[in-house]
Amino acid sequence: MSEQSPLILSGKTVAKATLMRTRQEVQAMLAQGQEIGLCVVQVGACAASSIYVNRKEARAQKLGFVSTTLRLPEDVSEDALLEQIDALNANDFVHGILIQLPLPSHMNEQRVLDRLDPSKDVDGFHPINSGLLSQGRGTLIPCTPKGVMTMLKHYEIALSGRHAVVIGRSNIVGRPMAQLLEKANCTVTICHSRTKHLENHLAMADIVVAAVGIPNMVKGEWLKEGAVVIDVGINRLDDGTICGDVDFESASKVASAITPVPGGVGPMTIATLMENTLRAAQS
Ligand code: GUN
Repeated sequence: MSEQSPLILSGKTVAKATLMRTRQEVQAMLAQGQEIGLCVVQVGACAASSIYVNRKEARAQKLGFVSTTLRLPEDVSEDALLEQIDALNANDFVHGILIQLPLPSHMNEQRVLDRLDPSKDVDGFHPINSGLLSQGRGTLIPCTPKGVMTMLKHYEIALSGRHAVVIGRSNIVGRPMAQLLEKANCTVTICHSRTKHLENHLAMADIVVAAVGIPNMVKGEWLKEGAVVIDVGINRLDDGTICGDVDFESASKVASAITPVPGGVGPMTIATLMENTLRAAQS
């Protein structure tokens, strides 16, 4: 067990620096008369989605983007949504489009995301952008894993030659996370819900990224001494408190560096969305 307390990797601090850099570039473009438009599309009025969408809009406006939110009713047809996406694709004032997920169950999420102009896909979910990322030449990269890489860089965490274990294989976090770590010369293992003996994999991990959505699932006893632990989970418990996928208390006795929840990876997602919107406008 480690004698020293771990380095706390603060997403708040890194997000602030990322937003400041982005703001400067946006302001420079504005000074040349170049406005940057972001449109967030929300279907239905799910409370959690509304909170995220409002935060994205407020943050974008603060940075100087022309930010709009297109709110469509829960029962809008998929075809009507696709027509709206076509219009946004064709609108030269809109440089970035984000479809807030999840979509209502009557829609085929992949079909909707496939309709986006890949050059405006600030989430990086379009198959063209996933394909480019898998070849190591992505430009619009999913915000959460890209944000994790920004944090690792900020704290000068060595990656090359180290063993990273990513828990979770979603298109939004786990898979792109593994690809980014591999590109940074990590040896990467992807674990998921069917993985047997997760603890055996974690015992060999220099870097752990947990993105499974199960509260406090990863225990400190499973980790290698000195591991760097990145917790992507944001889980709300019955008592209203928020916790991650990692049991912070036991993990922080073993880890050399760890992200808290909240205040860890969370703030990086919106900050990186702003960065992606700027990149989409520059491309
Ligand atoms: N819903 C939860 N997280 C995300 C995200 O990163 N992007 C989008 N579009 N929807 C989400």
